[in-house]
Amino acid sequence: IANEPTLNYPPGSREQEELMAAVEELGSKTHHVPLIINGKEVRTGNVSEQRNPGQKSQVLCTYENAGPAEIEQAIEGSLIAKSKWEAMPIYDRQAIFLRAADLLAGKHRYKVMASAMLGQGKNIWQAEIDAATEAVDFLRFNVKYADEIYKVQPPCNAKNQWNRVEYRPLEGFVYAVSPFNFTAIGVNLAAAPALMGNAVLWKPSNGAVLSNYLANEVMREAGVPDGVIQFVPGDAVEMTKQVFAHPEFASLHFTGSTHVFKQMWKQIAQNIDVYKSYPRIVGETGGKNYHLVHPSADVASAVNNTIRGAFEFQGQKCSACSRLYVPESLWPAFREQLVRGVESIKQGPVSDPTNFMGPVINQAAFDKITNYIEYARNDEHCEIIAGGKYSDAEGFYIRPTVIETRDPLTKTMKEEIFGPVLTAYVYPDADFDKTIDLVGATTPYGLTGAIFAQDRQAVAHASARLLHTAGNFYVNDKCTGAVVGQQPFGGSRASGTNDKPGSANLLHRFLSPRSVKETM
Ligand code: ALA
Repeated sequence: IANEPTLNYPPGSREQEELMAAVEELGSKTHHVPLIINGKEVRTGNVSEQRNPGQKSQVLCTYENAGPAEIEQAIEGSLIAKSKWEAMPIYDRQAIFLRAADLLAGKHRYKVMASAMLGQGKNIWQAEIDAATEAVDFLRFNVKYADEIYKVQPPCNAKNQWNRVEYRPLEGFVYAVSPFNFTAIGVNLAAAPALMGNAVLWKPSNGAVLSNYLANEVMREAGVPDGVIQFVPGDAVEMTKQVFAHPEFASLHFTGSTHVFKQMWKQIAQNIDVYKSYPRIVGETGGKNYHLVHPSADVASAVNNTIRGAFEFQGQKCSACSRLYVPESLWPAFREQLVRGVESIKQGPVSDPTNFMGPVINQAAFDKITNYIEYARNDEHCEIIAGGKYSDAEGFYIRPTVIETRDPLTKTMKEEIFGPVLTAYVYPDADFDKTIDLVGATTPYGLTGAIFAQDRQAVAHASARLLHTAGNFYVNDKCTGAVVGQQPFGGSRASGTNDKPGSANLLHRFLSPRSVKETM
């Protein structure tokens, strides 16, 4: 198993033409997305809209919202479907998800990419990384990790004994709640537990219903049986309350905000007496990720990586770089290159493949992010040195923004913004050690971070001192862009349970092994 190769889409190529034709086709009408329960399309009459964030007058799809009756039906149906699914040999389940990967990388590649471009404002390259390669890699690598898990057996049999471990799925159903920003994450939240023999209720983000629906259709075409993955968009608060009150609730598989995850954890705790088993709670949440630049760093490389880490995907990545620490000696050159690079970023609709950045996801995100920009504009310790402009006239466009601050604990250094805003703090070269401590103490998060240094001793020193500040730590590279099978992803502290999607560890969370000792 290898990573799905990324395609390049050069201007005039067949790939670019076919993809842009798919974008045109998908955007030419308003689609309607039903719930999928027990393999059937279900309509509730309670309909919402998903709009194109780059052109907000365009309704990309309307979708049905699941109500209490549909959720009940979905849970009951999933339990029935599971009884057959869990009895199916793992080889057959693996074959289905490998087929889904091939369909996503092949026949359906451009359609699902187009839905991420129009629905989440991604450029070609971002959609390629998300829907065409990361989603495919999750599906394929999970199959490989499942092989590794199943072959692990007790090393010893005493005389007249036959000992073994059986890898049972969880008892009950899994609730997968996915975010808007990555189709791949939604796919993995549903597919990873399903591969291990579980049945899943998949609640996609309201900002990504169409792309998640299309990805689910691919999995159905590949052979995921009816009822095994129930696709149920809807109101998160009501649905979650109902799901968490069910005795068969076995696991939460979540990616989203820290605040919501904590609320969910508390709700689960309050219902603990209701459940048959202790629920497995698996969550990937927020981040406030850093680039720490040492005086020995290569400035051009650190600047380039910072621009990519902070502004690719419009900064709407839990891993995005949003705080930067640069020594005084490097700052004049660093600042000049950073500002020049950021100001030259081309931004606009996905219909123009030369745009590096698109819009942010919706009005709420636009308002939240621009509030942070205004906060910095009005703060005496802060100066906006690049960007700072925005408009929601056509779509939700915010220029990539760099704030320089004299206060390393200012709000934009501490709080997750989830948008294209980077705050830089300039430290005295002699204070490198103090700055390491500052990096670790500024936020409650622990997702990603990077050190830029050519002095290898400085790298070793910082790496050890920053041990718990990042679940994904990078040396001389941006703090984003983990590749499945290469850098298992996830953080601890307030950033999640660090179960590492893209590893066997995640799959273990959806198994409840049974040890069997048989005496001959
Ligand atoms: N896994 C994604 C990254 O590393 C979010 O950037």
